Amino acid sequence: TLQPVILSGGTGSRLWPVSREHYPKQLLALFSEQTLIQDTVSRLEGLDRDTDELTMLPPIVVCNEEHRFFIAEQLRQIDCPPEAIILEPQGRNTAPALTLAALAIAEQDPETIMLVMPADHVILDQASFQASLRHGITQAGQGKLVTFGIEPVSAETGYGYIRKGESVDGNPVACTIDRFVEKPDQSTAESYLASGDYLWNSGMFMMQAGVWNRTIETCAPAIYNAVQQAFAGREDDRDFVRVDKTAFLASPGDSIDYAVMEKLTGESASTTLSPVVVPMSAGWSDIGIWSTLWEVSDKDPEGNVIKGDVYALDNEDCLLFSNQRHIATVGLKETIVVETADAILVADRNRSQDVKQIVDYLKGAS
Ligand code: GDD
Ligand code: MG
Repeated sequence: TLQPVILSGGTGSRLWPVSREHYPKQLLALFSEQTLIQDTVSRLEGLDRDTDELTMLPPIVVCNEEHRFFIAEQLRQIDCPPEAIILEPQGRNTAPALTLAALAIAEQDPETIMLVMPADHVILDQASFQASLRHGITQAGQGKLVTFGIEPVSAETGYGYIRKGESVDGNPVACTIDRFVEKPDQSTAESYLASGDYLWNSGMFMMQAGVWNRTIETCAPAIYNAVQQAFAGREDDRDFVRVDKTAFLASPGDSIDYAVMEKLTGESASTTLSPVVVPMSAGWSDIGIWSTLWEVSDKDPEGNVIKGDVYALDNEDCLLFSNQRHIATVGLKETIVVETADAILVADRNRSQDVKQIVDYLKGAS
């Protein structure tokens, strides 16, 4: 049995002014006609077709209390109502979020394989994506913790880096992991890229629910204990699962990557569970900043990505989005213009990372 788990806790602040805390990027149709979270669910369609051995359940979503109705409605719109929506009173990062889902799933059957997916990725090649998942399912079924590795194209410091080890017996593509390094500094990232031995961590994971619970209990007992208490004290509210607030907030905040992946690999490896990496070449990207959205989107002959009511004269390689009002641009190059009802962003496309500074400034000012 395969249980998709969607982590939908981020705020996407570098996609301001469209992505906001109360309505973050995963709820927006930034890339296709569907929202990012709808695309996340849709791209699994057909994964269990033609195989009798695999049953795929409707997804479990772990998200902030505040977004519950939007998410329930968006998944209903694509005829994929979730199995459950687990509500966090406040985000504690991905390790506690994933542990909540694992506890819920293990109650039914600890051997159920969880497919953990961020709600905000773009994947262009669905067939190749599903082929990688099938390799992952074989590995996870044998009790392994599976990551999916992307061939790196730049020395990006916002990702995890996975050093491939030997290929795993009997699987044509899966490899052991020699080392996992989350968000290295710039020069380290550059050396990893140059070495050719590293893959980016895609942020998707696969493992049996029981395997995760044992792993987090070993690697981060404080998280496991707090989350277990929070889950034990839960209240069901129709499809929503509301966990005990005090217990959950007592959990340390940490990501899967730091709390587990780094600890399972490298010199200080603390347990016997050896994770594996399955390579994925499916046109993956993490839509974190405007320039990435520009890169992956279809462009007009001048290299522009245009949405909404826009009159563009002689622009090149721009992203021009209007939401409410008519916008007109003349002679711009490599520029981002994003218009919303209450704010407009105009930025050099190559400075997309720095949009976060605007949000930090606005937060401080309010
Ligand atoms: N429910 C819930 N609660 N979800 C969360 C929380 C939380 O507290 N925090 C983050 N998430 C969700 C985000 O919405 C996103 O979908 C996913 O978990 C990953 O979190 P990010 O905060 O976006 O992580 P990252 O991008 O810095 O790093 C991760 O992804 C990279 C690839 O995109 C890591 O796994 C890296 O190793 C990886 O390379
Ligand atoms: Mg991310």
